[in-house]
Amino acid sequence: MIQPSEFARRRKQLMRMAGGDAIIIVAAAPERLRNNDAHYPYRQDSDFHYLTGFPEADAVLALVPGRAAGEVILFCRERDAERERWDGARAGTEGAVAQYRMDDAFPIDDIDDILPGLIEGRERVYYHFGRDVDFDLRLISWVNRLRAQVRHGVRPPHEFVALSHLLHDLRLYKSRAELRLMQQSARIAAAAHVRAMQATRPGQNEHEVEAELLHVFRKHGAVPSYEPIVGGGANACVLHYRANNAPLRDGDLLLIDAGAEYQCYASDITRTFPVNGRFSAPQRALYELVLDAQHAAIDEVRAGRAFDAYHQAAVRVLTRGLLRLGLLSGSLERNLREETYRAYYMHKTGHWLGLDVHDVGDYRIDGEFRQLEAGMVVTVEPGLYIAPDAKGVPARYRGIGIRIEDDVVVTDAAPNVISADVPKEVAAIEALMAAGR
Ligand code: GLY
Ligand code: MN
Ligand code: MN
Repeated sequence: MIQPSEFARRRKQLMRMAGGDAIIIVAAAPERLRNNDAHYPYRQDSDFHYLTGFPEADAVLALVPGRAAGEVILFCRERDAERERWDGARAGTEGAVAQYRMDDAFPIDDIDDILPGLIEGRERVYYHFGRDVDFDLRLISWVNRLRAQVRHGVRPPHEFVALSHLLHDLRLYKSRAELRLMQQSARIAAAAHVRAMQATRPGQNEHEVEAELLHVFRKHGAVPSYEPIVGGGANACVLHYRANNAPLRDGDLLLIDAGAEYQCYASDITRTFPVNGRFSAPQRALYELVLDAQHAAIDEVRAGRAFDAYHQAAVRVLTRGLLRLGLLSGSLERNLREETYRAYYMHKTGHWLGLDVHDVGDYRIDGEFRQLEAGMVVTVEPGLYIAPDAKGVPARYRGIGIRIEDDVVVTDAAPNVISADVPKEVAAIEALMAAGR
């Protein structure tokens, strides 16, 4: 759990970065309709959550550094016994101050009257332009109202700055409490993958295996951090396959890419294993190649290495292996230079992980890949996808898709693989699947 004092520390740090003449405005995620009057499950905006821990929609945070009457102001829904009977409890403005440690809180319905006064006299507005067009228009209307009063001595802001630059750099470095939540999120996802592996049988449908994942997520109070991919056979070659509704065939592999979200923190794990519990020789040849690439890549997830070093390590191992297996030809260096592996490996080897599964933060600084630092978390997810109609490929390799994905914390020492509870070595997968069969 993230303590109120940590949320407060984040707000302080952001205000320090923004400067004493700025205002920072962050809106909660809106509720979204799925169909007719049924909503999608509510998920708080990650930035808003990072700064408040406040779980409700219809809320806006204003950070006003140096404001004598309070720097941290929340606009939120008021308590309302009738509405709460239907929709559940609200914190209200009193709860925002007492529970969530805001300096001050106002009803969201009063924002048009109050927020312009907070913006007035501030040089710069930090805000996420373009994320919510309705809110953009409201902000413009508040600023225009100030501009219309310039002759009366009102001082509108002069600069509008993208908030992401400052805030997303903060989010890149995970605190101890965040790392504990991410470890828990990865543990839950790993347990889900283990259960799915144990439950898989030829003749089942992909959605039956998906149900095993969801069972474990919900049992531990988590939700999926993205729509799980459960793809048997050649479906594994469809990178964003989400239909999850095909029968699983004896002799095929099954690729599962599924992560949990626990207290808003994501995990992101992929395993690929045989539907019948035993790898065939060609499946095993490709699988062990991806596994070697993943081991080599994880070894590069160290403080001081450039972000793309682990991608380069994976690509080198994959290319060497593809040459050995006859899926590529020519010299290693020429193939690396010409990126010929992209016929079979068309994505990058990983991304930042945190509140968002593809978490925020710049990958490059001044055009150069940034260096990894302790507290950053990445995924390491090499794969090979041999299309069913791939030209010039031995038939035994066609229609095989493999990815192996783990979540790795950069430390001052060795890489810390927080998703290690689910097996990935061939013998370990086969042993797990054989037990109880
Ligand atoms: N599950 C999304 C990804 O692996 O990036
Ligand atoms: Mn994934
Ligand atoms: Mn991923």
